[in-house]
Amino acid sequence: MDVKDKLIKTRQLNREECRELLDLLLTEEREGEIMSAITREAVRLRKEYYGNKVFTRGLIEFTNFCRNNCNYCGIRRDNRELDRYRMSEEEILACCRQGYRLGFRTFVLQGGEDPWFTPEKIAGLVEQIRNLYPDCAITLSVGEHSREVYKLWKEAGADRYLLRHETANEAHYHFLHPKEMSFSRRISCLYDLKDLGYQVGAGFMVGSPGQTPDHLAEDLVFLQDLHPEMVGIGPFIPHHATAYAGAKAGSLDLCLKLLSVIRILLPDVLLPATTALGTLDPLGREKGLMAGANVVMPNLSPTENRNLYQLYDNKICVGDEASKCQNCMALRVRNAGYEMVSERGDHIS
Ligand code: 5AD
Ligand code: FES
Repeated sequence: MDVKDKLIKTRQLNREECRELLDLLLTEEREGEIMSAITREAVRLRKEYYGNKVFTRGLIEFTNFCRNNCNYCGIRRDNRELDRYRMSEEEILACCRQGYRLGFRTFVLQGGEDPWFTPEKIAGLVEQIRNLYPDCAITLSVGEHSREVYKLWKEAGADRYLLRHETANEAHYHFLHPKEMSFSRRISCLYDLKDLGYQVGAGFMVGSPGQTPDHLAEDLVFLQDLHPEMVGIGPFIPHHATAYAGAKAGSLDLCLKLLSVIRILLPDVLLPATTALGTLDPLGREKGLMAGANVVMPNLSPTENRNLYQLYDNKICVGDEASKCQNCMALRVRNAGYEMVSERGDHIS
C-alpha cells in the first residue's frame, strides 16, 4: 500500500511514513491526482463529523505585554518600538458583551505572557465570564504555566486552552526560542492541560526558519500522540522587528496540504482557517475551509488595540470593527460552501 492509501485507509502513519508523505506533499501539485484524493477525503471526513457547519470564535487579544522573547514573534520582549497595552476588566467584558450580541458562543482570551495578569486575576475574569455567559465556551491562550495554575483556571470555568507546540523537534525548538525556554516544559504543559480535562489546541507554523521536512514529519507524529482537540497551523510570516525580518514566509500551498492531512489523521479535530492564511492570500481562509478546516476566529478586540497585536507584518483586519469582521467572515464561509453557526462548537467527543 502506498503512503496516500495508508493515510486514507488507516488514518495513522508512523515516522517514516510521515516523512514519505512529506516528500509527496512537497512534490505533488495540489491539483494533482494524489493530492486531490487526499483533499477529497479530508472534506468528506469534516462533513461526516461536522456537516456544513463552521464554528466561530471571538478572539480578544487582551494584552500585548510579554515576558517571553520568541525569535519569530512581533510582541517579543525585546521589541522596544511597540506600544504596549493592557485591556481593563471592563473593556474585556465589554468585548464579550458585544461578541455575545453578534452571536459568538466561544470567547478566546489571548495574550502575551503578562505577569501583571496574575493567575488570580485571570481566574476572576474567567469566573465573571462564566457567570455572565453560562452558555458560552471560554478558551484561554496565555502561554506556559504550572499545573496548579491551569487547574485554578479550569475550576474557575475555562473549557479550552490553546498552546501551540511550535515544533516537535527539540533542536528546532531551541533554534526558534531563547535559551531560557524549554521544549520539555512546553510539552508537559500540553499534557497537563489534557489531563486536567481541557479541550487542548496544539499547533505549529509552516515554513518557520530552520524547519525541514523531517521536522514537519515529527509534528505529524506528535499530533497523533497528543491527540489534541484543536490544531492551529498557519504559515510563518516575518516580522520586521525580529531577527527573522528578512526570512522567507511559509508556503500557503503546503499549509493547505497539511490541513487536509491533519483532518485525516485526526478526523474530528477542530481546525481553524487562521488569520495568517488570510494574510498570505486574500482567499487563504476560504481555501483553508475547502481543504478541511472547520473553524474561523474573527477578532473582537477594540480597533485601537488591534494594530498593536501584530505577531507578524501585514496582519489583516487590524482596522475593522468586530461587526464588520463578523459579516465579512460569514460571507467568506458561505463562498467556501459552508455555513457559519452561532454555537459553542465543542469537540465532538
Ligand atoms: N508568523 C506566523 N505565526 C506566528 N506566530 C507567532 N509569530 C508568528 C509569525 N511571525 C504564531 C505562533 C503562536 C501563535 C499565537 O501565533 O505559532 O503560537
Ligand atoms: Fe475581519 Fe474580514 S474577517 S474584515
